[in-house]
Amino acid sequence: MCGIFAVVNDKTNHAAQTVLAGLKKLEYRGYDSWGIAIKPTSLTPGVQKLQVEKHIGKIGEAKTNLPEGTIAIGHTRWATHGGVTDENAHPHLDCSGKLAVIHNGIVENYLEFKEELIKKDHQFSSETDTEVIAHLIEEKVKHQNLVSAVFKTFNDLVGSNAIGVIDFESEIIIAARNGSPLVIGVDEINHQYFLGSDVPAFLKYTNKVHFLDDGEAVVITKTGIKLFDLKTGKEKKLNWQTLDWKLEDAEKAGFPHFLLKEIHEQKETITKAALINEKEILEMAKLIRQGYKTVFIGCGTASYCALAGKYFFANAGITSENYGAYEYLPFLKFTNNKTLLITISQSGETADTLIASKAAKKRGAIIVAVVNARGSTLERMADIVLPVGAGPEIAVVSTKAFTAQLATLYLLTTAITNKYDEGKNKINKLADVLKDWLNPVLINQLIDTAKSLMKEEHIYVIGKHLNYPATLEFALKIKETSYLHAEAFAAGELKHGVITLIQKNTPCFVLASNDETKNEILSSTAELKARGGRIIGVAPFESPEFDELIKTPDLGDLTIFGNIIVGQLLGYYLGIGRGADPDKPRNLAKSVTVK
Ligand code: G6P
Repeated sequence: MCGIFAVVNDKTNHAAQTVLAGLKKLEYRGYDSWGIAIKPTSLTPGVQKLQVEKHIGKIGEAKTNLPEGTIAIGHTRWATHGGVTDENAHPHLDCSGKLAVIHNGIVENYLEFKEELIKKDHQFSSETDTEVIAHLIEEKVKHQNLVSAVFKTFNDLVGSNAIGVIDFESEIIIAARNGSPLVIGVDEINHQYFLGSDVPAFLKYTNKVHFLDDGEAVVITKTGIKLFDLKTGKEKKLNWQTLDWKLEDAEKAGFPHFLLKEIHEQKETITKAALINEKEILEMAKLIRQGYKTVFIGCGTASYCALAGKYFFANAGITSENYGAYEYLPFLKFTNNKTLLITISQSGETADTLIASKAAKKRGAIIVAVVNARGSTLERMADIVLPVGAGPEIAVVSTKAFTAQLATLYLLTTAITNKYDEGKNKINKLADVLKDWLNPVLINQLIDTAKSLMKEEHIYVIGKHLNYPATLEFALKIKETSYLHAEAFAAGELKHGVITLIQKNTPCFVLASNDETKNEILSSTAELKARGGRIIGVAPFESPEFDELIKTPDLGDLTIFGNIIVGQLLGYYLGIGRGADPDKPRNLAKSVTVK
């Protein structure tokens, strides 16, 4: 949604540059505008204020002219309240210019505060909800110390929020969290302290982190970090952990875009997913065999993973349900302490997924989090955690986290039917096969296909059974990454209306596997072909119905992995050709932490 970053004790004395570099790593969280506030080392005579720089537009190539300093905060924005303007970009100052606030979330009650503050002569320079926070603290600090003024202000905010506050006088940073992620990092060698919405922002300096919980706040001074409970104001013990993430995980490693790097990383990440979580998977399998009802939920890409989970289960003779997390509440009444709610999320911070999970937990359901990012709200709320181990996913659209989640659900299915080891071998084989298959010949074919589609306005994707969730994800990747309208249908739905859209040369992708659905999908393909459609098969077999074939590895029920990867790569190359930014598609945010 938005990215928060701050540094204290910057060893280079260029804290603004450090913050800018950190914000660039968080750009996937929001890229409308950005801004930095710093306390300069040398003050201009007569100017006792923080210095602030704010700009609209992407941060990628941005430079900052802010002066030297060792303490600064910064923000990359995905607009909620107030349009995309320099004024609305964060940080927001109080009237004195000595206090600046960065914020991720929505202050639902900001209007009532704003009215009161205006009556007290506070001057506002933006339309944001965030700016009220700076003025509220300014008001409270007249009667109490800064730390309690920040805590009190934060406790009064309604909504899911995380804030970072920098104070000119005391040179401290205070941060608080309720519903939006915050993590702190410490570089013990250089005594540098970092605050971020996510770890990649400061992975260059440290992997020693503490993830803040809801209701926690930190006070970062030159001499260290202290953790507090926001309600009681009492100090708490920091829970440091050292992550196994490396700096390279948050770099492009020679690829032009994170998206392409992450697509190719799937050769390794899928196998990694099969190496972890065995104990938890076997424990869950036991519960399901005991009669727990499984419900899969997720949003966006994760919702298609959830749907694929339902198909995996059905193929193994196990019943389950599946919902987009945002549509789950009407069905909540059927949830009880015999429900296993499998929540799928890359970030573990998606508001719709969290709301559904919290509601199910209240009704006694066992919450299972199939997550990629570590330390998330979902992970902490869950009773069972299946981290999928794909490493930091920086591109906004999900690829490697999705296939790692898919592999995890596949393994769970095999565990229920006592075929876990067989499942593991199949996943390992899949990864080996992908290594050979993702070769320059395939890539060139996909580039040529993308070139031939560049000027199209609509493309259609069909698939049956397990290939149905695959078509949904295939089409989503193309829409998200290239802005080309791609629509997915279950093959069987075609003749019930959709077929009106097929004309001469309409591009139609057919996702297929060498299984019992083959004949039926080919019949649907014939219907498309008879209407003049340009048929591009994405399948492990040839067919006279296909005008073109993008051949994928023949791996039984795992064939969908290759079929989906074709959609990821086509989306990427179409995006490049159509002038989109594959890492940061317009209007999207990687984790949507608001309803
Ligand atoms: C946003 C992103 C999607 C993502 C969805 C769910 O909408 O743009 O790419 O699939 O959130 O995110 P999650 O982190 O819960 O998997």
